[in-house]
Amino acid sequence: MATDYGSIQARIEQVVRSAPDATIALREAVAELKRSIPDYTWVGLYVLQEGELVLGPFLGKPSPHTRIPVGRGICGAAAAQKETIVVDDVNADDRYLACSLETRSEIVVPIMRGDFVLGEIDVDSDRPAAFRNQDRTLLEAIGRALAERMAERTV
Ligand code: SME
Repeated sequence: MATDYGSIQARIEQVVRSAPDATIALREAVAELKRSIPDYTWVGLYVLQEGELVLGPFLGKPSPHTRIPVGRGICGAAAAQKETIVVDDVNADDRYLACSLETRSEIVVPIMRGDFVLGEIDVDSDRPAAFRNQDRTLLEAIGRALAERMAERTV
């Protein structure tokens, strides 16, 4: 049966909105994404702190890239451009910072508050070209829900 992206999005938005605090919201979003979509081999959140993307909650193999300056890697490029980046073949992209040898494709979605980048959702897949429009739509919606909760932490 095809993955029902609409109901996954509605469920995760609800989980993020009802989490008792922002830290739990971030952790729950990662857990829900990882278990909802089998192609999501690695799911993590980076939080922007003083010009660097700092790794927060993640599921999958530990990454060596726990701090990524804006502008470096695919993560840093997405933060600099303030736009989602989809890479169908990570080995053909010079920007790519390797996390696992098995990774074949990646999507990075900035979490925005107005014009400011608060962080990013980063998902890797062991399958080439795993990310389609429905993944972008899902992750951008979760990014908007997370932005609401992350903004709470700064007031
Ligand atoms: N591949 C990312 C680095 C993060 S790891 O995939 C977890 C990048 O190129 O920025």
